[in-house]
Amino acid sequence: MAIMNENYCNLKESYLFSQIAAKVSTYVKENPDKKVIRMGIGDVTLPLAPVVVAAMEKAVQEMGVKETFRGYGPEQGYDFVHTALVKYYANHGVTLETSEIFISDGAKSDCGNITDIFSDDNIILVPDPVYPVYVDTNIMRGRKIVYVKGSPENNFLPMPDYTIKADVIYLCSPNNPTGAAYTKPQLEEWVAYALKNDAVILYDAAYEAFVTNSDIPRSIYVVEDAKKCAIELCSLSKTAGFTGTRCGYTVVPHQLKRKAGNGTMMELNKMWLRRQTTKFNGVPYIIQRGAEAAFSEQGVKECGEILEFYRENARIMMATLDKIGIKYFGGIYSPYIWMQCPNGMGSWEFFDYLLEKLAIVGTPGAGFGDMGEGYLRLTAFGSREGTIEAMERMEKSL
Ligand code: MLT
Repeated sequence: MAIMNENYCNLKESYLFSQIAAKVSTYVKENPDKKVIRMGIGDVTLPLAPVVVAAMEKAVQEMGVKETFRGYGPEQGYDFVHTALVKYYANHGVTLETSEIFISDGAKSDCGNITDIFSDDNIILVPDPVYPVYVDTNIMRGRKIVYVKGSPENNFLPMPDYTIKADVIYLCSPNNPTGAAYTKPQLEEWVAYALKNDAVILYDAAYEAFVTNSDIPRSIYVVEDAKKCAIELCSLSKTAGFTGTRCGYTVVPHQLKRKAGNGTMMELNKMWLRRQTTKFNGVPYIIQRGAEAAFSEQGVKECGEILEFYRENARIMMATLDKIGIKYFGGIYSPYIWMQCPNGMGSWEFFDYLLEKLAIVGTPGAGFGDMGEGYLRLTAFGSREGTIEAMERMEKSL
């Protein structure tokens, strides 16, 4: 008899964004005349940058010609993307080696897959509220999860608690869902805590490209010694509009090593390479050429204009919330606005109110953890017209 992974019994019935999609789809079916404005899942709406499209088109042509056709590529990605990323990081003050970068189909997959190289006996530390993938993927492995609380008092930026001895620490900055971003001194405290506990930080930098202020780190590696305790996961989904195209990367520094029970030093970079070469066949060549273009000088410029469009949406949203007098976090270094639900409403209650009365889709804060109760997340990834209309609807009725 096949014995199933019974840890799945401990998961919620469905993944947060699937649950919301199902609710929205029922609403749309029952209200075909309503113009629904989607500000729920953080999905981009603007097309890929021209330089990215041109690079992909060229790659498609190459694949149709015998001399330039390519079959399997290196599982960890082509060196041309690694080289483009080394330059991109150097522009933000971080030195990496090409062999420290692994190209993947996105940060969500890597977030789940990276759990393969850690024992199930680890204690996992997760901030609450949090991107549900960190929690769900560890529940799937039956691991013990402990939480540090984000709240208005700490601006949703929980700091290390030395009474907790954690082994693997998830951090996301700029944060999904709250939009809050750690400063360098705050990240230094997390690195010190990780080094003291011999822990490993899994640092999700998926929203780094939204940072415009040099005081806010775009990578954890600006912190001294972070390479001894941190893996960085990142994605082109938000940086370059690749939510549908799929490409991300994970940085595993060579300095990151931990002792095995028998005393052997285990290099996490080698372990991840072993894992990826065994279980993954790499990202399509065409997509990697697009990624290379996204990190070129022209790509950063074109993608930057797209990001600026979303930032302006966020500014419009923040101005409306200021006008109505609703407290919120985020929106500055992030496409997410984490708003307090009005009139003491609960997260799901306000989600239903917005959907049923105003035909606006948000994401209930409680879906990101207990500390998210009483909040709702809105994204700035919509069209300008949709964003303005949603704000008008909210201003009239909240
Ligand atoms: C979100 O809405 O939180 C993100 O789009 C989810 C993701 O990136 O997987």
